[in-house]
Amino acid sequence: MASLTYYGHSAFGIDTGSHKVLIDPFISGNPQAKISADQIDCDAILLTHGHGDHMGDTISIARRCGALVVTTYELAGYLDSQDVKNHPMNIGGWRQFDFGAVKLTPAFHGGAVEGASITCVPCGFLFFFDGRCLYHPGDTSLTIEFELIGRMNRISTALLPIGDNFTMGPEDAVEAVKMLKPKEVIPMHYNTWELIAQDPQIFKKRVERETSTKVRIVEPGQTVQL
Ligand code: NI
Ligand code: MN
Repeated sequence: MASLTYYGHSAFGIDTGSHKVLIDPFISGNPQAKISADQIDCDAILLTHGHGDHMGDTISIARRCGALVVTTYELAGYLDSQDVKNHPMNIGGWRQFDFGAVKLTPAFHGGAVEGASITCVPCGFLFFFDGRCLYHPGDTSLTIEFELIGRMNRISTALLPIGDNFTMGPEDAVEAVKMLKPKEVIPMHYNTWELIAQDPQIFKKRVERETSTKVRIVEPGQTVQL
């Protein structure tokens, strides 16, 4: 049985039934996180980009757990210099791992890396495991790329940013749902700070009125079945 734990912001833990995979593990300094980074174990980490609110505790968790970090080529190079086990990929690339298969998708966003003087191309992830397709687009604007991603994949769960200011807001996220056509959406990247405050119920009502997709609002700290 696969499950998803929401740590708040864009940080998730996916238990595929056989492996534990983290996405963008921003735990320390995340006002929504209910546990500390050293309480989290994983086999692999999917990292969308180097901003502090996504890279977060990647280095410390990966070192402690010996986890493999999958990310873009340049960011993987930086992690390599930090003695973190990594697998470099790039946008458009697909690969099968022991914990599932991964495909990197485009994200329209910035690429600064916390604590390093480099800039990397940000990405999103399609994560295939246990007959499911989970989509974590990272930080991105609304983009017509969603149309192609929706046409080529039967997305079971899409995790979509709704916070606005740094990413799509709720209105643009509704348009994203129309193109992605996922079975369900879990909103993310909102209410972490006042700057990205949103009412997810308003987003849920609009999506469920205008599309056949269900919106599942997951509270930080909550674990739900997939
Ligand atoms: Ni960002
Ligand atoms: Mn962010």
